[in-house]
Amino acid sequence: MQDSPTALLPPDLLSFLRCPTPQAWVEAALVNQEVLLIDHAQCEKKAASTAMSLMYRYVDRPLLLTKMSQLAREELLHFEQVVKLMESRGIVYRHLSASRYAEGLRRHLRGEDPLRLVDLLIVGALIEARSCERFACLIPRLDTELAKFYRSLVKSEGRHYEDYLMLARLVAEEAGDEAVEARIAFLADCEARLIEAPDGDFRFHSGVPEAA
Ligand SMILES: [Fe+2]
Ligand SMILES: [Fe+2]
Repeated sequence: MQDSPTALLPPDLLSFLRCPTPQAWVEAALVNQEVLLIDHAQCEKKAASTAMSLMYRYVDRPLLLTKMSQLAREELLHFEQVVKLMESRGIVYRHLSASRYAEGLRRHLRGEDPLRLVDLLIVGALIEARSCERFACLIPRLDTELAKFYRSLVKSEGRHYEDYLMLARLVAEEAGDEAVEARIAFLADCEARLIEAPDGDFRFHSGVPEAA
């Protein structure tokens, strides 16, 4: 018997996130699988590009460079896998507006490094953790092929979450920032509010679907 999807998550991931994905989002995802997959492809591409922009900006941090380079490659591979799956299902890749989620988190970034970098890394950890948790919510309800694909993603997104969080704590420690746990708690609360508030647009990271 296969492990339950939740058993695939890193042990502390569910307590890191301040709220579970609302059931109404899961139901909306099941009836909007085309939008789910297109937006998922977008998210993978964006994750690679975010990792690469960190590599351009923070060239003096060897561990960050290695981790982000590995992460960017994995996200691009995920992107190719989603696009291939979309093609096999006859789903046409079209432009979709971004959800409010990433911008809703980025607006809290502090302005000056290294605190800005600490925040960027915490936000990265939150996005990876939420993606991972959403895959785990969806897996039991999806067809075999998509469930198998999402099961494979849970593992790598879980590792990405751990890497981002490890880097955030490391950069904070090097900067003598003793308030990093409070900062994590603050940003996790902001994330939970975006997840639990009504949202007019269904996307991979959208909030509670508004009644049509
Ligand atoms: Fe990914
Ligand atoms: Fe990821």
